[in-house]
Amino acid sequence: MGYCARFMGMMLDKSAISMHNARMGHAQRVQTSGSVCFARAYAKINLTLDVLGRRADGYHALATVMQTVDLHDTLCLTATDDNRVQVVCTRPELSNEDNLAARAAQLLRERFALQQGILIELYKRIPIAAGLGGGSSDAAAVLLAMRQWWQLSLSPSELQEIAASLGSDVPFFLTGGLALCEGRGEQVTPLAASLTNCPSSMRWVLLLKPAIGIATASVFSGLPASDYTDGSYSRAVISALQAGSLPQPGDFHNSLERSVLERYPEVAQAKVDLLQAGSPIVGLSGSGPTLYALFSELSCASLAQERLQAQGYEMYLSHVIYPNQGDIRVL
Ligand code: C5P
Repeated sequence: MGYCARFMGMMLDKSAISMHNARMGHAQRVQTSGSVCFARAYAKINLTLDVLGRRADGYHALATVMQTVDLHDTLCLTATDDNRVQVVCTRPELSNEDNLAARAAQLLRERFALQQGILIELYKRIPIAAGLGGGSSDAAAVLLAMRQWWQLSLSPSELQEIAASLGSDVPFFLTGGLALCEGRGEQVTPLAASLTNCPSSMRWVLLLKPAIGIATASVFSGLPASDYTDGSYSRAVISALQAGSLPQPGDFHNSLERSVLERYPEVAQAKVDLLQAGSPIVGLSGSGPTLYALFSELSCASLAQERLQAQGYEMYLSHVIYPNQGDIRVL
């Protein structure tokens, strides 16, 4: 089996490939030249999210500990002759030029005066408007893939700056893994290297996506100052992880959670159900609505998943992941 087929086989199972081909059919009309580039874009969870206060520019100052998980979108970039960026996505509502992935590609095309167009085929697995950073991760994957593919001369700080201009979470996804993100989220301090090992109790990550989407801006704009924190939850989680131990359940704190649970009763109910299904640690990811539960044993995570699926919840069983350059393949 050729390298390309093996790689694609790894990414897309047979039924997924036929769905991919059916939905992407019209993309075959785009004239292509040169090679293609595959990239994975991982989802994240927020182990903590301390909102420290409101800034003069309208954003909120944060200290948040983020971790990538292996739930991922797959992107395929193809060079085209039509001098534009086009996105074709398995979720048709994302097949447009406003997609953050398209904006990332356009930014690099303009900066480097690239003549070729780019077709981005996006196989979406990460739920949308879910607090899992899918759109930001797709954008970061495009930046990394284009830099590698075209050998663009971009220093880490230049790349970071471009990523931050696309969104507060985008810089985190350039490295992924475990990181402390500060400022409005764009100041990233990777933490994986300072860990001896990831506590076994955090190996398996069960994601529950309630059947609603939440706009991040609406959650931040309604946040009362009484929900602000001083960053101590993030500090506590980092210290515990650096000592190789599991943080206290109460330290997986998210300043946005109280208002999200109050405003969206279905998220509050989902949290109760996750806890009742035997999850030892439950947290809200970003501005929600996705909740995560951490498990040490696959069998326990899988049992909880089955119970919650039977209750009608959309569930994903995932694990923490530390991405590397191998997640981008130029074929
Ligand atoms: O940076 P990004 O475009 O992802 O942010 C989306 C929205 O979330 C912002 O327009 C802002 O309303 C809110 N936000 C915030 N403080 C942050 C990050 C985001 O208020 N640190």
